[in-house]
Amino acid sequence: MTARSSLGFHTLTDEIDHDCPVSGSVPEWLSGTLIRNGPGAFEMGDSAVDHWFDGLAMLHAFTFGDGEVSYRNRFLRTDAYESARAGSFESGFATGNTTLRERLRAFLFEKPYDNANIVAERIGDDYLALTELPRWVAFDPETLETLDHVRYDGPVPTGNLACAHLKRDPETGELVNFETSFGRRCHYHVHSMSSPTERERICSIPVDEPAYMHSFALTPNYVVLTEFPLVVNPLDFLKPGAQGPFIENFEWKPERGTRFIVIDRERGEVVADPRAAAFFGFHHANAYEEGDALVIDLETIPDATAIETLSLDNLRKGNFDVLSGRLERFRVSLGADGRATVDRERIHDGMALPTVSPARWCRDHRYVYAQSPDQPMTTWPQAVAKIDTETGRAVEFADDPEDRYFSEPIFVPNPDGEREDEGVVLTVALDPETERSSVVVIDGDSFAELARATVPHPIPFDFHGRFFPELTG
Ligand SMILES: [Fe+2]
Repeated sequence: MTARSSLGFHTLTDEIDHDCPVSGSVPEWLSGTLIRNGPGAFEMGDSAVDHWFDGLAMLHAFTFGDGEVSYRNRFLRTDAYESARAGSFESGFATGNTTLRERLRAFLFEKPYDNANIVAERIGDDYLALTELPRWVAFDPETLETLDHVRYDGPVPTGNLACAHLKRDPETGELVNFETSFGRRCHYHVHSMSSPTERERICSIPVDEPAYMHSFALTPNYVVLTEFPLVVNPLDFLKPGAQGPFIENFEWKPERGTRFIVIDRERGEVVADPRAAAFFGFHHANAYEEGDALVIDLETIPDATAIETLSLDNLRKGNFDVLSGRLERFRVSLGADGRATVDRERIHDGMALPTVSPARWCRDHRYVYAQSPDQPMTTWPQAVAKIDTETGRAVEFADDPEDRYFSEPIFVPNPDGEREDEGVVLTVALDPETERSSVVVIDGDSFAELARATVPHPIPFDFHGRFFPELTG
């Protein structure tokens, strides 16, 4: 049996340019482009992927200006796309029998998998689609046309796995990231960058069994790698016979706990690495400094079983049967005597894909925006929430009737605003009745709908968006 939400996991073949009919009123100040990235196709010909994370990258651009909204979508023309068109999905995060060993071989041949379907990011003057491998795909932000691959090949040490969630320090404009190198000796390499081809090393941390970390935390003075106990023994994949999709090579080892590796950005040194009881997570909502403590708001789940739940077979049947995320606040106190401690506080239960205002990145925030699924999940999220971390209260936005599905919410600050929540939240709603999607503009303060612009096709459930004010169309 297929679920109503299965429309979010269909293959979209249309690539269109469209002036969207708008209901309500888009604020005059809202100018720029929201570019969302995510899987657009799960099948091509006789070939298909097994997992939501492995669909072929498609960009969706919503451009706002003068109260109007236009929309454009394009597949990334990658090697992965061409190979799928030719009848084979080469490999992926959780699809196929590509072993990590084969991946390593691919890395050695300088051609990692390029299905960059996680996020669109600006690095220097370039716009790039990113995935977790260090071969990014540049695109034209106006036309969404695929340009070229970009790969750093300078003197700063690089890894085989890259984090797709770069963190930007709004004070310095620096972008910070880390990569994980596999081999007989493994490292986390942490660096900052001013363009796709310019990096400055922060540090390299040796590690015996590297963890799968989808994002990390940045504050003005520190980088924090939250090392979940989902780890891989590099010796296992260097010897022949390792089988299964990439992520299945990682093993859940809760006895290790979850380690917060705190790196001083200036000195390039690990200054503390306290552990908390084991938990898993995907997204760091934000982090900041408070006295000698680092405050880190994280989307947590108890363990890594959620990854299997996100297989397309499960999702299309509506078999979620999983805990959705929890927003938790971790306070890492560095301590004058070098003994760091971690405190943990639950802020909100039942959320996914948390974001904060970009004006609050690396500094204290009050509000977190997120998808708002049931806890435990029974269906795809049918609401988005504004979570007040001071009071613990959350306000939800849902459609009436409540049968539409919402993407990650992105907050866009009003450039003339003063309060943190003065601005709008943009989220994409999928309506299974009309088989169309809309971008919904929600007032950041009241959390009421201001406007909605509809596109003539259903957009598959995607991952992440960025709002680029400079892209005015
Ligand atoms: Fe993500």
